[in-house]
Amino acid sequence: MLIAGNWKMYKGPAETAEFCLALRDEELGGVDVVVCPPYVSLAVAVQLLAGTEIAVAAQNVHWEDEGPYTGEISPPMLRELGVYGAIVGHSERRQLFGETDETVALRTRHALAAGLFVIACVGETAEERERGEMEEVLRRQVSVLDADDNLVVAYEPVWAIGTGKTATPEMAQEAHAFVKSLLDVPVLYGGSVKPDNAAELLGQQDVDGALVGGASLEVDSFTAICRAATRS
Ligand code: PGA
Repeated sequence: MLIAGNWKMYKGPAETAEFCLALRDEELGGVDVVVCPPYVSLAVAVQLLAGTEIAVAAQNVHWEDEGPYTGEISPPMLRELGVYGAIVGHSERRQLFGETDETVALRTRHALAAGLFVIACVGETAEERERGEMEEVLRRQVSVLDADDNLVVAYEPVWAIGTGKTATPEMAQEAHAFVKSLLDVPVLYGGSVKPDNAAELLGQQDVDGALVGGASLEVDSFTAICRAATRS
């Protein structure tokens, strides 16, 4: 069971330090825990969580080692900081910043080759689900990925992200089973995971963890989700 906190564009270095110092003292049970702060807060998170079981990952990563790519960060740069992995292909990157299946594939492949752990995000929009295209969309998004020991997929229905609308446990289970029929990797659920719905979602057979946005920003709610995962 893996619980990853995607902080998005929240928490600079000072708030990150405060969060990590508090998280270090929490009992997180037997689950794998990852926090994904903004780039500028990675160094302090790595430093303060060194020697704990909690890993630090970035929210994106480029495919080249270096070059004229303004605003991008490369896999070796993350490795140099002691960062463990990266989220790739989050729906906010796809919807707001032009990320495509092709760039998701490049980012994922090169991050894995550089020794990073990757959480690759997939998921359908509300319109795609209404049109009955969920499987087609997932098939297209997953088809560019290759199974790897350091790869997990996060199924995040776009309509459930930051909206308070969670997929029902049955909907999550169905989508996860479908993703796993395409690619043999662990699959995390993401989209409005909260302390009060985590246990039910994480209790589904093919739900191997969660990618948590909003509820990962407070130590109390994040640790409550980690503890729910321990019991699932
Ligand atoms: P949310 O975000 O938990 O705030 O819905 C999840 C995500 O975007 O990874």
